[in-house]
Amino acid sequence: MKRRTLIAAAVSAAFVLAGSPAFAQQPIVIKFSHVVANDTPKGKGADYFKKLAEERTKGRVKVEVYPNSQLYKDKEEMEALSLGAVQMLAPSLAKFGPLGVPAFEVFDLPFIFDNYQELHKVTQGPVGAALLARLEPKGIRGLAYWDNGFKVMSANKPLKTPADFKGLKMRIQSSKVLDAQMRALGANPQVMAFSEVYQALQTGVVDGTENPPSNLYTQKMHEVQKFVTLSDHGYLGYAVIVNKKFWDGLPADVRTTLEGAMKDATKYANDIAKKENEDALEAVRKSGKSQIITLTPEEKKAWKKALVKVHQDSESRIGKDLIQSIYKETGFDPAKL
Ligand code: LMR
Repeated sequence: MKRRTLIAAAVSAAFVLAGSPAFAQQPIVIKFSHVVANDTPKGKGADYFKKLAEERTKGRVKVEVYPNSQLYKDKEEMEALSLGAVQMLAPSLAKFGPLGVPAFEVFDLPFIFDNYQELHKVTQGPVGAALLARLEPKGIRGLAYWDNGFKVMSANKPLKTPADFKGLKMRIQSSKVLDAQMRALGANPQVMAFSEVYQALQTGVVDGTENPPSNLYTQKMHEVQKFVTLSDHGYLGYAVIVNKKFWDGLPADVRTTLEGAMKDATKYANDIAKKENEDALEAVRKSGKSQIITLTPEEKKAWKKALVKVHQDSESRIGKDLIQSIYKETGFDPAKL
């Protein structure tokens, strides 16, 4: 064979090889780890993001969603993100203290939001954006806020007044504001990973807990808690976060497409959150395993009275200015609690 023919043959062979699956460009993999069931606002949001991201990048990106603490528990998943072992998480806003950004615990203040509309003024406005920016020095980029909902309290005894909490061991997330909240009610807070709560309730390691109905129901906590109080005493939601180095290192067109997918997945997750929680509560009711307690206006007032001091007591941890800026957005007035 002449030299030129040889080169042509080699070049065409290279093209054939490059087109074969073994030589096809490997997709960029995003491991998205979370701790809740698929059938929750966050679980569905993560799955929807995967769908949009993969469709819109035409397979250049593959999103692997690992639900239910399958890959990592609460504390470990934060470490895994920092180390680059996973690329995306959506931890509860109550779990950023160990990362060194306790300001997110402002969302845990009792009764600070009356409804999703008030909350969205913060999460979809400048205060929320400034909070996400505080993650940057930690090597983390905050992409969005995803809703879950307003929390119920559960135990094996009816919780109607603050006095009913006296001496109860209550599981909480790692937030110091939630610790203060439980102490203000006279309970003993116990920090515990989400994946361990069901068993801890079942075996009596803790007496009760708090979460929105979607988490309570999908973890079957209602099967080991005789009473559920519809207290709406606080909010639980998420920040979707990525490893900043990974995100900044993506090809610009891929990153832009993923940002669009995240925007649409965020809208979807936030649109379904309220109904998901209503449906979960209905399912708990129908199961007949827990009795659902609705507070009278007087009882609710007593909860607010017992809990309002948590706002002032948390100023040094989360910042008075931040708390005030949220009051301003929502029109909240602690004097009215
Ligand atoms: C919890 O630990 O109770 C929640 O943060 C779980 C979750 O991610 O919704």
